[in-house]
Amino acid sequence: MRYRRMPIEIESPEQLGYNAIACNLAESSVTDVRFADLNLDLSKLVLMYSDHYGKPELRALLTQESNVLWPEHVLMTVGAAAALFIIATSLLQPGDHVVVVYPNYATNIETPRQIGADIELHTLSFEDGWALDVDALAARIRPGTKYVSITLPHNPTGMMLPESDLRRLVHMIEQKNTLLLVDETYREMGYASVLPLAASLSDRVIGVSSLSKTYGLPGIRMGWLMTQNPALMELFLAAKEQIFISGSVLDEEVAYQYLREKPAHLARIKADIARKFALVRDWMAEEPLMQWAEPQGGVVCFPRIRPDLNINLDAFYEQLNGHYKTQTGPGHWFEADRHHMRVGFGWPGDEEMKAGLSNISSALRDVLGA
Ligand SMILES: Cc1ncc(COP(=O)(O)O)c(C=O)c1O
Repeated sequence: MRYRRMPIEIESPEQLGYNAIACNLAESSVTDVRFADLNLDLSKLVLMYSDHYGKPELRALLTQESNVLWPEHVLMTVGAAAALFIIATSLLQPGDHVVVVYPNYATNIETPRQIGADIELHTLSFEDGWALDVDALAARIRPGTKYVSITLPHNPTGMMLPESDLRRLVHMIEQKNTLLLVDETYREMGYASVLPLAASLSDRVIGVSSLSKTYGLPGIRMGWLMTQNPALMELFLAAKEQIFISGSVLDEEVAYQYLREKPAHLARIKADIARKFALVRDWMAEEPLMQWAEPQGGVVCFPRIRPDLNINLDAFYEQLNGHYKTQTGPGHWFEADRHHMRVGFGWPGDEEMKAGLSNISSALRDVLGA
């Protein structure tokens, strides 16, 4: 396997330097939490190796909403990123067929690609509102397909799937004897509904998530994968043990104490997301130069500059980033057309967000000379 840095990482706000950015619409998470605000008691913590699966009480909290998933079905990882890496490198060999939804969180495509897998992309389109047609997706499964990889709610578009469609897809996965990987990192940020934990639907489904996006805790790097399949769990545990043995006890304890108060955190976070989403919706309604398909979950959307405008895209991004010090996630972060940009609306405060959206409008007009 070969490694190469991806634009989404090279150009990420933490690599550019937060101080160089006035309006940060590039994040895909809610506002980062300040440690002191959590009021945690870590005084009794012993800095030992943790259980190789991860702190049992933490895994119990993560499965308590389900009556089929138990702590033994959870493997804690270093962010969802490590879970995705463990799954791809454990299941794929060069030449193996895998179906991946495109566009996507870059790693979901990049890791299988660098392994040398035979990746079949299932392309979502703006014109269809980014909707995922599960029958068309399942039609790509061949004998020997290792897995199908989807992200729900979707990054970068915020597209969701009705639960009935997800269940139908799982049924087709079972019939066709393959596996379904659901990157459900934004799951709890569904607006109208929240999908069930994917791994609860079948032992052929692997779910991946973390505390980074919904809870604003990316700095503790607490992610996990879930599977009911003991053979898969054994394989993934072996991979984890070879890469990092066990997780950080400090991170796991912070995650545990935080999640014990989850209902209160989630209520506050959801109210925050709804208010900020309304700001983006108001801006889009007033901005004739941009088009979008409204997200149905998460804190990102993937609007586009109207393609008929013939805008100089390099000049636009230069003006937006350089002059207005405003960052978004440009299309190339997702190997997509740069008329699109991912706008993250969970992270900035209201004023920073309003300024950032208005800066996009201004940069468009500056470059179009309008
Ligand atoms: C869909 C999705 N999955 C996984 C990740 C990885 O995040 P983390 O490793 O912080 O959990 C991200 C981060 O942007 C993401 O958007």
